[in-house]
Amino acid sequence: MTVLLLAVVLLLCDIQESSASYTITECNEDEPLYIVGNQPTSITCKGLRQTHNMYWSITELCGDCKETRVGLCAACRGSSPCPHNCSDVNADYIISRTKTESMLRFVDNLTAKDGATVKCSRLNNQTQASCTVNVIKAYQLPDCNNNTLEVVDNGKTMIGCTNIDPSHDMYWSIIYPDDVEKTVAECDSCLPDDACPDCTRKYDGYVADRNVSVSILQFDSGSDNSKDGATVRCGKLGWGTVEVDCKIQVFNYRLPQCRSGQLDLSEVPPWTSIVCEDLRYDHNMKWTVTDKHNDVIEAASCLNKNKTYNCTAKDGFTATRENESTSELKITKNIREQADNTLACLRGDNAAAVKCLLRVVHPGELENPSVSIDGHFTVSGHVDISKVFASDSNVTCQWYYTQRDHPQLVSSTKLGLLLFTDNNDLHYQRGVCNMTMQLNTSESVYVFTVVVQPGHGPVSAGTVNIRKPGYPQLQTSTCPKYLAEGSDLNCSCHHPASQQVSPAASIYWENRTDTAVLEVAHLSRELNGTEYVCSSVWAKGLTGEIRSSVAYTLLVACEYNGWYY
Ligand SMILES: *[C@@H]1O[C@H](CO)[C@@H](O)[C@H](O)[C@H]1NC(C)=O
Ligand SMILES: *[C@@H]1O[C@H](CO)[C@@H](O)[C@H](O)[C@H]1NC(C)=O
Ligand SMILES: *[C@@H]1O[C@H](CO)[C@@H](O)[C@H](O)[C@H]1NC(C)=O
Ligand SMILES: *[C@@H]1O[C@H](CO)[C@@H](O)[C@H](O)[C@H]1NC(C)=O
Ligand SMILES: *[C@@H]1O[C@H](CO)[C@@H](O)[C@H](O)[C@H]1NC(C)=O
Ligand SMILES: *[C@@H]1O[C@H](CO)[C@@H](O)[C@H](O)[C@H]1NC(C)=O
Ligand SMILES: *[C@@H]1O[C@H](CO)[C@@H](O)[C@H](O)[C@H]1NC(C)=O
Ligand SMILES: *[C@@H]1O[C@H](CO)[C@@H](O)[C@H](O)[C@H]1NC(C)=O
Ligand SMILES: *[C@@H]1O[C@H](CO)[C@@H](O)[C@H](O)[C@H]1NC(C)=O
Ligand SMILES: *[C@@H]1O[C@H](CO)[C@@H](O)[C@H](O)[C@H]1NC(C)=O
Ligand SMILES: *[C@@H]1O[C@H](CO)[C@@H](O)[C@H](O)[C@H]1NC(C)=O
Ligand SMILES: *[C@@H]1O[C@H](CO)[C@@H](O)[C@H](O)[C@H]1NC(C)=O
Repeated sequence: MTVLLLAVVLLLCDIQESSASYTITECNEDEPLYIVGNQPTSITCKGLRQTHNMYWSITELCGDCKETRVGLCAACRGSSPCPHNCSDVNADYIISRTKTESMLRFVDNLTAKDGATVKCSRLNNQTQASCTVNVIKAYQLPDCNNNTLEVVDNGKTMIGCTNIDPSHDMYWSIIYPDDVEKTVAECDSCLPDDACPDCTRKYDGYVADRNVSVSILQFDSGSDNSKDGATVRCGKLGWGTVEVDCKIQVFNYRLPQCRSGQLDLSEVPPWTSIVCEDLRYDHNMKWTVTDKHNDVIEAASCLNKNKTYNCTAKDGFTATRENESTSELKITKNIREQADNTLACLRGDNAAAVKCLLRVVHPGELENPSVSIDGHFTVSGHVDISKVFASDSNVTCQWYYTQRDHPQLVSSTKLGLLLFTDNNDLHYQRGVCNMTMQLNTSESVYVFTVVVQPGHGPVSAGTVNIRKPGYPQLQTSTCPKYLAEGSDLNCSCHHPASQQVSPAASIYWENRTDTAVLEVAHLSRELNGTEYVCSSVWAKGLTGEIRSSVAYTLLVACEYNGWYY
C-alpha cells in the first residue's frame, strides 16, 4: 500500500517536472518588452523549480551577434540558498533569483538593447522563455515645469506630449487626487506620410490633437478647482507601459465682481472694495493698475511670511489680505482717474493673474418714479434721474412689470442725458426715463419697477390694476324727478362702484356732454318729458369694451296760480 502511494507521488512529481515551463511576465510571444528611454527596467522569469540551475542570455541585434550568456543562477541549495544573486553577470544587468523566479534588471547601455532577444533558460535547455526588446524614447511633457502644470483661469490650458512613436496608439488621462484615472482622449497611431486620424474625446472638457509624434491636450472648459492636485498623463495604449505624468496646480485667481470683463468703481463712499479670491497660501500677491499708455502702477502688494500676510499700498489705495485665499483692494482717491484702466490681481511673480477693465460710476439718483394708465389702457411711466455718471457713457434705463411671478422687460433704453457740472467740477448727467406700454382689458395687477444702470437696483414705480365695471352700473339718483319751470337742472350720472373700476370708464350724457354732469339752466315747459341718456364706456374701441346706459326723463312742473302741475 505504502509503496503504491509513494509510486503515485513520484509519478505526479515526474509529470509536474516535465511539464514545468518558464514565462517572462513583461512580454509574450507577440508583444515586445518596451524599455522606455533610459529607465532601468526589470523583467521576471517565472516557473522555476528550486532544483533548477538556470541562466539568462541575450542575442543583440547586429550583423552576426551570437547568443551570449549574461548570468548564471544556481539551484537553491547548499552554498546558494534562495534568494541569492546570480554569478557570471554582465555589467549591464543585475540578476537575482528566488526559488521560483529570476529577475533581470537592465541597468546600462539600454539603447543598445533595441531589437535584442532576451531569454531565460533551464541550464539543460529543457525549458526556455524569450522576449524581444524594443527600446523607445520616453514620452515627454515639455510644458510641465518642475513636474507641475500651472493651470490659470484666464483661458484654455494646453499641454503637449512629444516623442510619441508613430506606431503607438496613445491616450491622455487625468488621475484625480482620489485616484480615479479617467481616460479623457485617445489618438490612434499615425504614420509619417499619412494624415493623422482625429483623436477621440472620451470625457467632456478635454480635446486632443495629434500629428506624427506630438499630441496636444486642451482643457476646453478652462480650469476648475477639482483639477487641482490631479495628474495629467500621456501614455501608450495597449501592450507595454509608456507613460509620463505631470501634476496640475490650479491658479484660479478670481475677481468675482468683474462681469463681462468690466468692474464698476463707485465714486460714492463706501468705496467699492474689490476682492480677489482663490489665492494660494504660499503666494506673494500684488495688485496693479495699467493705464491707457500701458504704464503699470503697483497699487499694493501682500507678502507671505510664514502664512502671515503683510500688505503695503500706494497712496490712494488700501489693501488687506484677510486670509490665505482672499485679498481686498480699495481705491480711495481720484477715482475718476481710474476710468478705462485695467486692474490686475497677480501672483508675486506675475505667473498667475486675473484682469479687469475699470469703469467709474456714480450710481443713478432717482426721483419721482410714477406710473399711470389712461382710458385707452396706455400706461405711462416716468422717473427723473437727477444725477448719474458712467465713464463709458453707458447709462441705461429699463422698465419692468411683474404680473404674477417673473419681471418682464417693458423697455430698455440707452439714455441720452444732459451734462452738468457739480461744485467739485466733476461732470455728471441728468435726464428722464419715460415708458409707455399698452395693456389689454383682462383683469390683472401690474407692478412696475425701473432699473437705472449704473444704479442701486430696482426702484418701485407703482401699481396698475385692471378691474372691469360691475353690472348694473349707472345711477342718476342725484337727478330730481320734478323740477319747477325756470329752475336749473344740475345733476350727475355715476357708477355706484366707480372706485373699483380701473381705469375709470368714461361717463357722459349722449349728445349733450363729455362728462357725467348734466346742466340745463332756466327750464322751460317745452323740455317737459325730455329723455336724457347717460352712457358709460369702458375700454372704448378695445377688445373687451363694456358699454351701458340709463335714461332719465325730465319732468317740468308748470306754475299755475301758485300751484305746480
Ligand atoms: C544582491 O546584490 C545587491 C547589490 O548588488 C545586494 O543589495 C543584495 O542584498 C544582494 N541580494 C542577495 C540575496 O544577496
Ligand atoms: C556599455 O557601454 C560602455 C560605455 O559606452 C562600454 O564601455 C561597454 O563596453 C558597454 N557594454 C556593453 C556590454 O556593451
Ligand atoms: C543550451 O543552449 C546554448 C545556446 O544555444 C548552448 O550554448 C548550450 O550548450 C546548450 N546547453 C545544453 C546542455 O545543451
Ligand atoms: C519645484 O517643486 C518643489 C515641490 O513642489 C518646490 O519645493 C521647489 O521649490 C520647486 N522648484 C522650483 C524651481 O520651482
Ligand atoms: C507636430 O506638431 C508640433 C507642435 O505643433 C510641431 O512642432 C511639429 O513640427 C509637428 N510635426 C509634424 C510632422 O507636423
Ligand atoms: C511659522 O509659524 C509657525 C506657527 O505659526 C511657527 O511654529 C514657526 O516657527 C514659524 N516659522 C518661521 C520660520 O517663522
Ligand atoms: C510690513 O512690511 C513693511 C515693509 O516691508 C515693514 O516696514 C513692516 O514692519 C511690516 N509689518 C509687519 C507687521 O510685518
Ligand atoms: C477669507 O476671507 C473672506 C472675507 O473675509 C471670506 O469670505 C472667506 O470665506 C475666507 N476664506 C477662508 C478660507 O477663510
Ligand atoms: C451698457 O450697459 C448695459 C447695462 O449695464 C449693458 O447690458 C450693455 O451691454 C452696455 N453696453 C455697452 C456698449 O457697453
Ligand atoms: C416724460 O413724462 C413726463 C410725465 O409723464 C412728462 O412730463 C415728460 O414730458 C416726458 N418726457 C419725455 C422726454 O417724454
Ligand atoms: C344723439 O344724436 C344722434 C344723431 O344726432 C341720434 O341718432 C341719437 O338718437 C341721439 N341720442 C339721443 C339719446 O338722443
Ligand atoms: C309733462 O309730461 C308728462 C309725461 O310726458 C305729462 O304726464 C305731463 O302732463 C306733462 N306736464 C305738463 C305740464 O305738460
